[in-house]
Amino acid sequence: MRAVAMVAAIALGALPGIARAVGTAGSAAVAAGGYRGAASIPGVPDPRRAWADWALDCQGCHRVDGGGSARTAPRIAGEVAKYLQVAGGREYLGRIPGIASSPLSDARLAELVNWMLFRFDRRDLPAHFRPYTAAEIGRLRARPLRLQAAAVRRALQRRIRRRARSGAR
Ligand code: HEC
Repeated sequence: MRAVAMVAAIALGALPGIARAVGTAGSAAVAAGGYRGAASIPGVPDPRRAWADWALDCQGCHRVDGGGSARTAPRIAGEVAKYLQVAGGREYLGRIPGIASSPLSDARLAELVNWMLFRFDRRDLPAHFRPYTAAEIGRLRARPLRLQAAAVRRALQRRIRRRARSGAR
């Protein structure tokens, strides 16, 4: 199963190393295979770069489609923007270890997080959503969650469930 996914990823030019190696043709493949949706996304100057960053830094754990797996990382597809609907969720997304400890610069990471929210869970984005800026991501990642991550996540998940039960939108 994993091997099949890998072959598919290579066929789509999904492995950034390969995409880079083949230059322009690779970028076109990345655009076609990796990014679907609006041509312009707020807070995302270059969606193809954001997608390549995702492929390199995140999808190993979260999977190409954001589906996650029980052993590696939670599902973010159809879920991740719900954090923006509850108190503390916006901060959480900048402080979780996988994001805070990424080797990307603050600007690239802000772009990636904004892109991720649109790519995987546009439906749940609050109407008043303001894209993350490099400065905000810089502030948040400077205080990474460590051992507390799981407890913070559980508390936020409770808030999200309560909100869903109350029928809020
Ligand atoms: C080594 C595996 C791994 C990598 C790499 C990784 N993550 Fe994660 N991610 C996790 C795990 C595990 C969690 C659950 C919270 C925790 O324990 O850190 C998580 C949580 C998240 C969450 C919150 C979802 C939730 O429901 O808690 C988001 C959003 C996220 N990661 C995005 C990213 C992005 C973006 C990247 C790349 C910059 C990334 N992750 C890289 C494993 C990973």
